[in-house]
Parts: sequence; structure tokens; C-alpha cells
Amino acid sequence: MNKSKILIAGATGQIGRKTVEHLLKTIPANRIVVLARDAAKAENFATRGIEVRVGDYFDYGSLLKAYEGIGKVLLIGSHGFTDRFTQHYNAITAARQAGVEHVIYTSIMRKEGSGLIFPEITESDVFSEQTLKASGLAYTILFHPPFSEVLQFYYGFTPYEKGILLPEGSGKMSPVTRDELAEAQAVILATPGHENKTYLLSGSEAISF
Ligand SMILES: NC(=O)c1ccc[n+]([C@@H]2O[C@H](COP(=O)([O-])OP(=O)(O)OC[C@H]3O[C@@H](n4cnc5c(N)ncnc54)[C@H](OP(=O)(O)O)[C@@H]3O)[C@@H](O)[C@H]2O)c1
Repeated sequence: MNKSKILIAGATGQIGRKTVEHLLKTIPANRIVVLARDAAKAENFATRGIEVRVGDYFDYGSLLKAYEGIGKVLLIGSHGFTDRFTQHYNAITAARQAGVEHVIYTSIMRKEGSGLIFPEITESDVFSEQTLKASGLAYTILFHPPFSEVLQFYYGFTPYEKGILLPEGSGKMSPVTRDELAEAQAVILATPGHENKTYLLSGSEAISF
């Protein structure tokens, strides 16, 4: 059976909200479901005819219920430093158990074979990608570059006094705004042919400082 409903997990967050807004331009509200820990935070979706289901990645039973009748799930990576291993494992395995067909997971871009580890972030991304690929679900992995909005975390809050540490020289990155990523995510959710693929979503030009 081909299930047409799409659930956005993380819809009360910044990229999630923008993804829903872009998605509404191409598919009707009654095909969109949002997952919220707190329904009050999703009120502006409910008033526009989007179904809000309450669930928490730490509460497996709530996810099973939220996924009923859903075909595709956009799983936006949870906050760093909050046991993303358990949260994403629950979100993926509950999707499988509930009969979801396709999970799209947002990961942070990294160079193939890179030994770079951001504790609690890159390791849980690798784990989540492996869990999803082994789950038997159709998967799409979206690699996010640094968000343009968080560049200050790279060059620091006092660059004139302390200088810029990274990226520098030949180390480059291609940041993108959350809205641009959300638009790309909405296209991937609304169109066919993205099963079992990994996409690097990035800016058009790599820059250093
Ligand atoms: N590439 C980058 O530069 C970069 C920078 C920062 C973060 N990130 C990653 O990108 C993700 C999305 O970014 P964003 O700015 O949209 O983040 P955000 O605004 O913090 O949104 C995170 C979303 O996850 C939800 N969430 C957190 N814990 C949950 C749980 N236990 N159960 C269910 N939902 C839960 C939040 O729900 P509530 O509204 O209830 O809190 C919110 O909807 C982040 O979570 C992080 O993994 C990437």
C-alpha cells in the first residue's frame, strides 16, 4: 500500500517549521502531519488544517501512535548533547514497526573517511545513518552543511581581538541558510525517486575566511 501522508518530526523547530511552510506550497495540508512534544507549539499548524500528533523521541509508544498511517517521515536530527543515540534509534525502529515506508534523516556533512569527531554529534549521526540503512526502511540521508545563521560559532564572538581559527586557508565550507535547506527538504518530501539515496545539500561556493 502506498501511504500518502508525510510526518515532519522536529516541526516545532526552526528548520522543521520552514520545511512545513515550503511543503504547503505543493501538497495539501491534509497530507501533512507534524510531530510535537508540546501541541501548543504547533498550534499555528493546526489552525491551517495540519494534523498535530504529540510524541517524544524518548517515548517509543508515543512514536508508534504518531506514525499510524504515515508513509514518509522527515526525521530532523535532535539537539546535540541530549542522547541522540536513544532518540534516533527509537524514531527509526518505531517507524519500521508502525509500517512507515520511507525515512529521511538530516545529518551533518562530513568528509568520507574523516576521523573528525564532534562528541555527541558526529558519532550519533553515523549511528543513526547505520541504523536507518539496516532497518529495511527506504532511506534518504541529507547531509547538512553549517547553517549560515550559526557561522559566528565558527569565527567566534570576538574575531577582531582573537582572530579567526577556522575554517582558514584551504579548509573551506559552503554554508546555507535554514530556509534554503528547508526548501530542498520540501522538494525531496513531495517528489518521488529519493529512496536509498544520500544527498549533500550545500551552498554553491565553498569559502574560507
Ligand atoms: N548544520 C548546522 O550548522 C547545525 C547547527 C545546529 C544544529 N544542527 C542540527 O540540525 C537540527 C535542526 O536544527 P534547528 O535549528 O531546526 O533546531 P531546533 O530549532 O532546535 O529544532 C529541533 C527540533 O527537534 C525537536 N526535538 C528535540 N528533542 C526532541 C524529542 N526528544 N522528541 C521529539 N522532538 C524533539 C524540537 O522540539 P521542541 O520544539 O519541543 O524543542 C524541535 O522541533 C538540530 O536539532 C541539530 O541536530 C545543525
